[in-house]
Amino acid sequence: MEKEIHKIRSIKGVLRVPSDKSISHRSIILTSMAEGISTVKNFLKAGDTLTTVNVYRKLGIKIDEDKGVIRVHGKGLKGFQEPEDVLDMGNSGTTTRLTLGVLAGQDLFAVLTGDESLRKRPMKRVADPLRQMNAVIDGRKGGELLPLSVRGSSLKGIKFFNQKASAQVKSALLIAGLNADGETTVEEPYKSRDHTEKMLKAMGAGIKISNGKIYSVSVTKTDSLFPVDIDVPADPSSAAFFAAAAVMVPDSEIVLKDVLVNPTRDGFFRKLKEMGAEIEYTNVREKTREPVADIIVKHSPDLKAVKVSKGEIPSMVDEIPILAVVATQAEGETVITGASELRVKESDRIKAVVENLRNVGVEAIELDDGMIIKGKQKIRGGYVDSFKDHRIAMAFSILGLISEEGIKIKDADCAYISYPEFFEHLQSVIQK
Ligand code: S3P
Repeated sequence: MEKEIHKIRSIKGVLRVPSDKSISHRSIILTSMAEGISTVKNFLKAGDTLTTVNVYRKLGIKIDEDKGVIRVHGKGLKGFQEPEDVLDMGNSGTTTRLTLGVLAGQDLFAVLTGDESLRKRPMKRVADPLRQMNAVIDGRKGGELLPLSVRGSSLKGIKFFNQKASAQVKSALLIAGLNADGETTVEEPYKSRDHTEKMLKAMGAGIKISNGKIYSVSVTKTDSLFPVDIDVPADPSSAAFFAAAAVMVPDSEIVLKDVLVNPTRDGFFRKLKEMGAEIEYTNVREKTREPVADIIVKHSPDLKAVKVSKGEIPSMVDEIPILAVVATQAEGETVITGASELRVKESDRIKAVVENLRNVGVEAIELDDGMIIKGKQKIRGGYVDSFKDHRIAMAFSILGLISEEGIKIKDADCAYISYPEFFEHLQSVIQK
């Protein structure tokens, strides 16, 4: 489905964007390993997280809903049932990689596949360290690509340096570590999102964290996990689109309610502030062990270009496309480097962003590991491709709001992967 987005006068309003995708995935995956019933309030019902629900049902976990609250009937650390058929991971890298960590230590055989995009994404980064733990994983290209097979085995703990600072890899190893003899340690050059370790700690796992020059997290073999009650906050990666719109469109002001502001996740908001945007966190509080805030964002006409370097990427890894969009309105050249991980997301996001910016009349340069965006540019408008990547579709929809001739987005309906209500929410805050 194509969408066409035109210039608007302003945006105003209050929005509670959908719940956090990372925490929603974990609220099913980790609780399915607990002894008993966990509850999940404000679970994200979107393409990727519904894939997780589906997969865990096929692994024998009862997941039901009572008055809008999801209940996960955990069956213990080794309670999964062998799936009768191939597991379809859809578009979801998080479901795939975390589930490899779950299945590696179960007494079963499973085959995992996914859609065209997911079948191109690298799995060796998780399969290799899991193999070091004794996991039996095979697949296309020597176990690099889906479809992958896993035959559960008895695991041993390892120490692993997570060079790419991937939270999915870290999470897979910590999950496998619950069932592995001894201790499993993951070290990171830059701390990636820490929802897995936080949740596992609350569930009673033997988690040890050391936050020195490098970040390190260890888990020991665990007998059982307690069920937990989780209330999922709003996703900062979804809130980012509306924050960007408010910053760029004249006369705008928006309040984004209940947003997760965990420091491993809110790098985009900190970067906007550094650019000179008017952003305020209010009502900062805690919700099931995670910091949340209501974020007020106002039109900010005097934005300055910024540099984004490698160490900053993990806390804003999914927000680089929308940051690039904002950079088109900042004085000077924004230079983003150390972001080669973007090439292996739902699409090659470096290529997708640069190509699309050029298609709407913006000067941008593609780097191996990032991009350079010239600021204070007029957005002519034109036709862009989402490459069936939800974040590309939403980022360029937001750019359409300040375009002279409008922006038409190919396959814009892929927004449903993380934000099914995106276009309705956009309509609801637009002042024509
Ligand atoms: C995620 C981790 C990140 C992120 C993805 C969600 C997670 O991926 O891009 O959208 O929930 O753990 P990497 O682990 O590949 O950095």
